[in-house]
Amino acid sequence: MTRTYALVNQKGGVGKTTTAINIAAYLAEMGQKTLIVDLDPQANATSCLGVNHIKINSGTYDALIGRIPASEIILHNPKLKLSILPSSTALAGAQIEMVGIPDREKLLLHALSPINGHYDYILIDCPPSLGLLTLNGLLAASEGVLIPVQCEYLALEGLTQLIHTLRRVQSNLFPDLSIRGLVLTMFDGRTNLSRDVAQEVRRHFPGMVFETVIPRSVRIAEAPSHGLPISFYSPSSSGAIAYRALVEELLQGDGVPMREPIISIEE
Ligand SMILES: Nc1ncnc2c1ncn2[C@@H]1O[C@H](COP(=O)(O)OP(=O)(O)OP(=O)(O)O)[C@@H](O)[C@H]1O
Ligand SMILES: [Mg+2]
Repeated sequence: MTRTYALVNQKGGVGKTTTAINIAAYLAEMGQKTLIVDLDPQANATSCLGVNHIKINSGTYDALIGRIPASEIILHNPKLKLSILPSSTALAGAQIEMVGIPDREKLLLHALSPINGHYDYILIDCPPSLGLLTLNGLLAASEGVLIPVQCEYLALEGLTQLIHTLRRVQSNLFPDLSIRGLVLTMFDGRTNLSRDVAQEVRRHFPGMVFETVIPRSVRIAEAPSHGLPISFYSPSSSGAIAYRALVEELLQGDGVPMREPIISIEE
């Protein structure tokens, strides 16, 4: 059985890609067959894994429009034991082209269905918007949504809109959509702001926030420039330890049915 998660937050730069890459890397290290789907035209997940998206002939876009089967596009990195469906520049125009295709919100679901069962985990890295690409990510996310939340000012603002959107998708398109959990990222324990934000998020979303908090770490920020996840770049750093702990928490939770219903948050 494949567990598919979408990393979603329409706010930019909150750690979606970083979290997708590093969760995937630890899942792979722990023996889980893992695929990353880069659903973002920025192709950050693709480049973070050392793949040059400019040179790619086919990518997520081709799988979405049904031009090439996903299995023929997926690249495998034997060193990282990780597979990626890479993004290419073509994905930038996809949202417009997809509008005319029937069942346009289910293109990713359909593209991934032939490889369902080939992986233990699929992590979908969504772009920073709630547009058609992200909608495709949500409808393919059989096990729910992982929401990275940056421990910074205004973190909660976008979350209200995000939850509202998830509820709409749940009631109109995908009744089984669930939130797997919120991940606090870029936490700086030296600042009151980080601590306050973390506390506020936990207060608004009781029981839905992962215990593990990802610290702000230079090592985490440096790793992509070497085309490596933190587990390879600096495995004993605080960021690596945190991502490993997050994955252990995720795996533990996946063993038991503890999915939370989508709730509304206090305004
Ligand atoms: N824990 C961390 N410590 C330090 N820097 C981090 C951390 N997590 C992410 N970053 C850096 O913050 C920036 C934004 O992170 P990332 O690209 O993962 O966010 P994103 O939500 O995917 O962004 P986008 O919305 O553009 O897709 C990147 O430069 C990344 O290296
Ligand atoms: Mg990103």
